[in-house]
Amino acid sequence: MRAEQETVLHSWCRQTEWNAPTIVGGAGAHLQTDAGQSILDFSSLAECSNLGHQHPRVIEAIRAQAQQLCFVTNAWGAQPRARLAELLLEKSGFSDGRVYFTLGGADANEHAVKFTRQASGKPQGWVITRDRSYHGASYATMALSGDSRTATQIDPASLRVAHVPPPYAYRCPNGTTSASACGTAAAANVAELIDTRGAANVAAVLMEANAGTNGIVAPDNYWPALRQHTRECGVYLIADEVMSGFGRCGEWFAWQRHGEEGRPDLMTLAKGLTGAHLPLGAVVLSGALARVLEPQMLYTGLTYCGHPLSCAAGVAAIESYQAENLIERSRRLGAAMYSRLQQMQQRQPLIGEVRGGHGLFAVIELVRDRTSREPLSPWPDLHVALKGLLRAALEAGVSFAARGNLLLLAPPLVIDEKDLADALDLLERLLGELTVAITTPTRA
Ligand SMILES: Cc1ncc(COP(=O)(O)O)c(C=O)c1O
Repeated sequence: MRAEQETVLHSWCRQTEWNAPTIVGGAGAHLQTDAGQSILDFSSLAECSNLGHQHPRVIEAIRAQAQQLCFVTNAWGAQPRARLAELLLEKSGFSDGRVYFTLGGADANEHAVKFTRQASGKPQGWVITRDRSYHGASYATMALSGDSRTATQIDPASLRVAHVPPPYAYRCPNGTTSASACGTAAAANVAELIDTRGAANVAAVLMEANAGTNGIVAPDNYWPALRQHTRECGVYLIADEVMSGFGRCGEWFAWQRHGEEGRPDLMTLAKGLTGAHLPLGAVVLSGALARVLEPQMLYTGLTYCGHPLSCAAGVAAIESYQAENLIERSRRLGAAMYSRLQQMQQRQPLIGEVRGGHGLFAVIELVRDRTSREPLSPWPDLHVALKGLLRAALEAGVSFAARGNLLLLAPPLVIDEKDLADALDLLERLLGELTVAITTPTRA
């Protein structure tokens, strides 16, 4: 067989640099390579394998559904589709709402935008999102994202998308000096932009409710303030829960940390929805929004919308989160991981800030100098020494994810507690070595 390196076009990399091991199996938080190495997965692959790998209940549900019925379009009913919608409405408390199924996160976000524009009667309505966000890599979601990697590929204004500054307290674009002041200012930026464009011309605000892959963790007061502003001016609020949902941030859905007051009008899901065992995304709509859309023609569709196999995996995934108390486990282990990282920060000068802690998700931002907060390398570059850290970790059997100067820690919620502790010990040792590599002058 020809090497994958020569035949496949891989995402988010230079093809000439792609040189990853081949994975042939997995169990729990571990992956297995074709060379027989066991790797502890400390990022849940792309923050999606929340249930770990090859979860037995999900595998069995896929097997049983495959035997009974692999596929029927959503012009016909399908039992796992109906059951999954019912479960999602129950877990989110959108009891009289509806669910639209997609294939992943990007098309869920595109459809959420479509539904708000249709329901608000503003087919060309503006959508407000923020810088330093990620909502997908299709053309519309590149416009929705505030992502410097893809910013030159699309003009957001051409798709009626406008960006506001992010609630990034460590480097606040509004110049504030506390987390809560940053949250207030960033939410006010949204209110001001709605005012400038006129609420009658704005269809929706789309934001990650807690954490996102661009490494921002919003201050606690941000989401409630955003909800208040959008409610006051009658603009729909969409929570992108693609990454933050299904326990990652310590709740079924991250907005739930703010209670009923934080309830969005819609939320988008993918990743943890099936624990990534099969591709699936969803838009969950409030009852009020569903009532508006019900009598109208819905001019949209995806051939695989609500694919029975994926929905069967989704039902089994939700049953597993529940049966194994994984949401609570994520909250407990996430708090412990966060406190361990804060201790690590006291000893490791390259750690500028540790963010997260609401579940098994944390971001470490690396700096050259903690006082000046000078970044380790200009965003979004990955410092060559940080690449070396990732390589050394992999050789030691742990896969960490990095993005620019950020280490994103997001292990499967089923991770063994000893594995978690050992991986953090390894990380601290490697950060110590990284400090030496960065601070030792190189000889000519
Ligand atoms: C917050 C968020 N939204 C949307 C997406 C896009 O999802 P997908 O890759 O399934 O299209 C991602 C993927 O990383 C994400 O993290």
